[in-house]
Amino acid sequence: MLNDSVLLKVVKGERTARLPVWFMRQAGRYLPEYRELRKRHRMLELISTPELAAKVTLQPIDRFDLDAAIIFADILNPLIGMGVKLDFVEGEGPKIFNPIASESDVDRLSVPDVKDSVGYTLEAIGICVKSLTPRGVPLIGFAGAPFTLSSYLIEQGGHSTLAATKHFMFSRPEAWHNLQQKLSTMIANYLIAQAEAGVSLVQIFDSWAGVLSEEQYREFALPYLQSIIAKVREATPIPIFYFSTGTGAILPLIKELGSDGISIDWRVPLPFARAVLGDNMVLQGNLDPLVLRESLDSLERYVRVLVEQGTKCGKYIFNLGHGILPDTPPENVARVIEIIRE
Ligand code: CP3
Repeated sequence: MLNDSVLLKVVKGERTARLPVWFMRQAGRYLPEYRELRKRHRMLELISTPELAAKVTLQPIDRFDLDAAIIFADILNPLIGMGVKLDFVEGEGPKIFNPIASESDVDRLSVPDVKDSVGYTLEAIGICVKSLTPRGVPLIGFAGAPFTLSSYLIEQGGHSTLAATKHFMFSRPEAWHNLQQKLSTMIANYLIAQAEAGVSLVQIFDSWAGVLSEEQYREFALPYLQSIIAKVREATPIPIFYFSTGTGAILPLIKELGSDGISIDWRVPLPFARAVLGDNMVLQGNLDPLVLRESLDSLERYVRVLVEQGTKCGKYIFNLGHGILPDTPPENVARVIEIIRE
């Protein structure tokens, strides 16, 4: 039944009558039904209880006419099984209580069997797929990229310039390499396990890659991403997408990753991305999440521009350039979907 999925058709290069649409962070705090569940359960409890994670994954699908679901989890919880002490602190975001500061901290990280460490997410995927497949809705799996995960491990959670992360990678290249190796092994195994559990596509989230120069990206991020993508490709035919922000100027380098799709942010014009990345690459993005909070008038204006650009450039999936913000009116999400489906 997933054969009729508009999103999977676009990925395969087939023509569709309309654009596919889903939203990064489409499950979450902007939805009253999510906030209701959060009153009773901690973030990590929601993620690690398969029935609850599945319920949250399906909330936006029950409410909106979306073309994909994304499994409810976080990029950081898979680190817990590696020995990282982590929690999501109310109003502050993620906190890491045993940050990586030295070579021996890296040595202490283990690479667990993902079936043990994140088996709950694999189980949640199974529950979701059972409910979504009859509805013709594919499920997206994901993992964080090694660079972005490293930044959380080194900065202890919040950060802006990633000064400590850069200092670590410049001053301890060997420890950096070991850290990237361990993370890459875990991430590839995790993505493959998600594919085996039933997801139709996987996306690698590299939210903070935009702080890297071209040379830095080539040396400290690219080789590990390439190895993850190659390993996942070898194990499964499902499409692989790469998301980052602030990386418009290094798109030619990002093309070298060998992903099937690239998710861009609002600072990168869609026609520009198409010109740089060529006709085969699936493009996804790139509405500014701040626009999604504005009046329907200004929202509609920006959405229509994007629909026109996306239709023209082809192989395009409508999405945001970053995740939905907590104070976004759900009606605005509904309106965007309506415009695209007109
Ligand atoms: O997209 C989805 O609906 C699937 C679930 C998902 C979450 N996080 C749930 C979440 C996904 C794909 C992520 C990815 C993620 N997590 C990224 C990469 C994408 C991006 O937004 O840049 C990053 C950097 C994180 C790390 C993270 N998790 C931060 C910085 C925060 C705090 C800020 C925030 O938005 O709350 C989280 C917490 C988090 N992850 C929440 C959710 C729904 C909020 C938790 C709560 O209910 O309090």
